[in-house]
Amino acid sequence: MTAPRPLVAGNWKMNGLKAALGELKAIRDAVGSGGAGRAEAAICPPFTLVAAAAEAARGASLGIGAQDCHANASGAHTGDISAQMLADAGAAYVIVGHSERRADHGETDAVVRAKAAAGIKAGLTAIVCVGETRDQRVAGKANEIVGAQIEGSLDADFPATNLVVAYEPVWAIGTGLTPTTADVADMHAFIRGKLEKLYGRKGVDIRILYGGSVKPSNAAELMGVKNVDGALVGGASLTCADFMGIAGVYK
Ligand code: 13P
Repeated sequence: MTAPRPLVAGNWKMNGLKAALGELKAIRDAVGSGGAGRAEAAICPPFTLVAAAAEAARGASLGIGAQDCHANASGAHTGDISAQMLADAGAAYVIVGHSERRADHGETDAVVRAKAAAGIKAGLTAIVCVGETRDQRVAGKANEIVGAQIEGSLDADFPATNLVVAYEPVWAIGTGLTPTTADVADMHAFIRGKLEKLYGRKGVDIRILYGGSVKPSNAAELMGVKNVDGALVGGASLTCADFMGIAGVYK
């Protein structure tokens, strides 16, 4: 049994104008010259840059993804983007169920599951996010909350090969706070157990990313934790120097 190939994915959130493609090309080149070592690297820019980013990364080893998709393939959904459209634009990944979407857009586990299914059906790898709030952790409910999110947001029919789970404690996102390595190890082992229950032996190969205030200065420690198969990086993915400082732990 070998550990899955790590994935370091950058979530640019609502950041990046066309000028940011320069940074993306710098990341592409750094990944191309081996800067991410044995890890797979991906950047998920805002929708407006997905096609241009995919064009810039065509034939290169940097993957491009999006940050959300609609559950339907097409139809009367003004302002929404389908997974098919993302695949057509050159995306290979789609993040679904990010806590900012769950909070800002009221996305339930059922909605997240439908979006993940749509992404997978379109040939994308779905990066499904889960994570507890500060209050939930303080109340000792982190496992209960994350367990329910996993069960509600995933489907046993998903092909394990197109599925990535990202554990992002809400209180660690953009705050500079991170859980202890012991807490990360406990949660990732708990998620691994859930994945093995859902997908059997294939659950061992599903990558479980850690996200929340990952920086070059803490990446080696966090990525060194058992069952942490990479990172989902927000703020520190916006510059080539910081992103490669994180991906570079896999060199
Ligand atoms: P930060 O790395 O900025 O804390 O964001 C994490 C995140 O939400 C990635 O999806």
